[in-house]
Amino acid sequence: MNTGAVSVAELRDEARQRLPKAVFDYIDGGADDEHTVRANTSAYARIGLVPRVLRGGGTRSLTTRLPGAEIAFPLVLSPTAFQRLVHPDGEVATAQAAAKAGTVMVCSIAATTPIEDITATGADVWFQLDIQPDRAFTAHQVARAERAGCRALVVTVDTAVFGNRERDRRNGFTELPDGLRCENMVDADGVLRRVEFDADLTWSDLDRLRDRTGLPLVLKGITHPEDARLAVEHGAAAVLVSNHGGRQLDTVPATVDLLPAVVRAVDGRVPVLLDGGIRRGTDILKACALGATAVGIGRPVLWGLAAGGREGVELVLERLRAELERALALCGCAGPGQLTEDVIRW
Ligand SMILES: Cc1cc2nc3c(=O)[nH]c(=O)nc-3n(C[C@H](O)[C@H](O)[C@H](O)COP(=O)(O)O)c2cc1C
Repeated sequence: MNTGAVSVAELRDEARQRLPKAVFDYIDGGADDEHTVRANTSAYARIGLVPRVLRGGGTRSLTTRLPGAEIAFPLVLSPTAFQRLVHPDGEVATAQAAAKAGTVMVCSIAATTPIEDITATGADVWFQLDIQPDRAFTAHQVARAERAGCRALVVTVDTAVFGNRERDRRNGFTELPDGLRCENMVDADGVLRRVEFDADLTWSDLDRLRDRTGLPLVLKGITHPEDARLAVEHGAAAVLVSNHGGRQLDTVPATVDLLPAVVRAVDGRVPVLLDGGIRRGTDILKACALGATAVGIGRPVLWGLAAGGREGVELVLERLRAELERALALCGCAGPGQLTEDVIRW
């Protein structure tokens, strides 16, 4: 791979140079005025770190336990649609990079690669789904994900309807190019379905899903502490604090600002994950100090993929891991599990 990028931000610059404008905008953009997109990243600049010194702890352990997986450091790859739009190797390249880094790849319901080809890489894969209006089709997808060896289901709950993505409308970005399709949206009769959203979903739909699968359920898109409490009561194995990277409801606060209240509501009963705006090792450290068990990244994976396929995604994961280790050392902390709010000033 021919990239001199030293940071995630520089990989974004490379992705911008390589991708058609409409594809870059599809990745980068969000809902309405994109206040939430910007808030997710700028929040981390507002949060200060006050390090502790002379505490030893040079041998750090970053291993983190999540439902259905133990990961090498507290970062997972959040689900993003259409990865073959960005690079021909798409989801397989991403899964290979995740496996090399020892972490989980979450496969989107709108992946452009069959789930079986993704799990065949040997990566720990979670399958993300939006519960479809045709519940029988959702049951079919769940059974397929189970058979393929997925370790958890990530149920996205912030998609009652589709967010207002004005960049996509301006660019006329509506259809996948010929040759690409949502490979996991094929039903039992071999018919390709469209991904749909269901604004009538309730907690009882989640209960039914929980009762029909042995896989742990991770609820993605929780922002309100009361919903976090309900998620635990309804048997979620983890909650993922997410505003969909600012792509659904604009003006939702930055996820890191929402995290502390969710952590208090969950009260240690299940792991709390967070995604949105993670671009640096210090961002991971701050989220962990505020109670996240691990974080997820969405856009950085696509930037790495666009810049250099599997190696590009590997670079993203290596950079973030190295930055996290350096930040932990400079904070005088032996591992993410030992972090407390003590190092945070805001
Ligand atoms: C291009 C793109 C496609 C996405 N597709 C999905 C998806 O299919 N399912 C889903 O639950 N979230 C999807 N997301 C949201 C991500 O999982 C994640 O919540 C978000 O990207 C995190 O913010 P970050 O991009 O700032 O890291 C998508 C995000 C992007 C940027």
